[in-house]
Amino acid sequence: MTTPAKSEKDRVVIFDTTLRDGEQCPGATMTHDEKLEVAELLDDMGVDIIEAGFPIASDGDFAAVNEIAKRTKNAVIAGLARAGQKDIDRCGEAIKPAKRGRIHTFISTSPVHMKWKLQMEPEKVLDMVVSSVTRARNYTDDVEWSAEDGTRTEHDFLCRCVEAAIKAGATTINIPDTVGYTVPDEYFALIAMLRRRVPNADKARFSAHCHNDLGMAVANSLAGVRAGIRQIECTVNGIGERAGNAALEEVVMAMNVRNDVLPYWTNIDATMLTRASKLVSAVTSFPVQYNKAIVGRNAFAHESGIHQDGMLKHTQTYEIMTPESVGVKQTSLVMGKHSGRHAFSRKLEELGYKLAGNQLEDAFVRFKALADRKKHVYDEDIEALVDEEIATAQDRVKLVSLTVIAGTMGPQSATLTLDIDGQHQTVQSSGNGPVDATFNCIKKLIPNDAVLELYQVHAVTAGTDAQAEVSVRLAEDGRAVTSKGADPDTLVASAKAYLGALNKLTARRHGAMAGAGRRRIHSTDTI
Ligand code: KIV
Ligand code: ZN
Repeated sequence: MTTPAKSEKDRVVIFDTTLRDGEQCPGATMTHDEKLEVAELLDDMGVDIIEAGFPIASDGDFAAVNEIAKRTKNAVIAGLARAGQKDIDRCGEAIKPAKRGRIHTFISTSPVHMKWKLQMEPEKVLDMVVSSVTRARNYTDDVEWSAEDGTRTEHDFLCRCVEAAIKAGATTINIPDTVGYTVPDEYFALIAMLRRRVPNADKARFSAHCHNDLGMAVANSLAGVRAGIRQIECTVNGIGERAGNAALEEVVMAMNVRNDVLPYWTNIDATMLTRASKLVSAVTSFPVQYNKAIVGRNAFAHESGIHQDGMLKHTQTYEIMTPESVGVKQTSLVMGKHSGRHAFSRKLEELGYKLAGNQLEDAFVRFKALADRKKHVYDEDIEALVDEEIATAQDRVKLVSLTVIAGTMGPQSATLTLDIDGQHQTVQSSGNGPVDATFNCIKKLIPNDAVLELYQVHAVTAGTDAQAEVSVRLAEDGRAVTSKGADPDTLVASAKAYLGALNKLTARRHGAMAGAGRRRIHSTDTI
């Protein structure tokens, strides 16, 4: 059977906003270097447009957009800007070094947002649509305009705004479902209505930006494509404001697997989806839901007897896509304590890591230590170990040792030694259980007012000698950071995760993270 040639009119452009809408969600803050790493992977994977940040939000955001603009080889680099002049000028500056740069400017158009958030009359909003797009065109001829809360906007007004934005020079028109309120049929009808009624609609590409509050972000985006949309805004693992955005891996695979009913295509190399998911989960410390479509750890697991029997007879009985098609490699028993440096660095390359110098050496030392304690070292163990190595490379405070007394005969107590800026300090504490005792030790050495919002443990692989992976979320001054720690000892993993989060908070105070230093302007803030 010959595959029909792909026509350009059926191509759906993938606009990834992991670094902007994704990073905006509580706890998902990434460091500058982590952002660069994610951007590089997105570019390699074939993402068409990378929304790298919101330059006016903070100096950190500006620097990330600017650096990504300098480095990126293929993708268009977009920055977000509200409709005000300062936002647009700052965004224009940030994207300047890009081979191809885009300004993405937006303003709310729904009655509830105009009245309560903007406190502006519709005619004033319409003026700002024109002035913002016109100003953005001074910096680039690639300007995207978004109607924030577009799905709750009156149709006549939305048509006027879209027409005005295109006339002022917008080349992409984005219709966000900002609050995740729409349903597929309604979104289809909205896009079809705009394309029918707006006289200059054929001069722009229409785009979907759907949030997942009712779990329909992907379905709504695909309904939009059926109505003529040719750009989907999405994030890796679906991270984003509140319930998140449409998940990149889901929209891509829906079009790949069901190309019979969704005859569209993207430039994405689907075999990189798993790697992208793991990287984003590692740098944000946001665990991926086990049963998450495409990239969840159970997405290709067949537990029940009936399913396993069917799979053994023919994989297509229960498998609509192969694990390999999304980059899942068969879990292998990787290496043991006798494996050398060469085999270790080959394995890292195979898993998609690029480590060199001290980082490679440190990761190898950690691997050896793990292999001494754990009989079987799997790919997942190596990933947890290297992700931790990358995340903690710049940390000021490191765990040196931990001894805990636990069990039925309380009180539980801990003795902990930390390396703080090169100095070893030891402390003892008791607590309501071994985790509490460990965290109390840390608090004694690093006094802080951060609130522990989340403490979660899961096993990296099967077996009682599996590594525990602990996620911790700490909040300070209204902003949260998340961090992970892995170790065969759950308490050591807990201490590492807690320290990781404290290190992130310290880095933020010292300006090493995007959004550092002062309260960050949010894309939902008024101009
Ligand atoms: O959800 C939304 O409306 C947005 C806009 C800024 C595009 O993120
Ligand atoms: Zn959004």
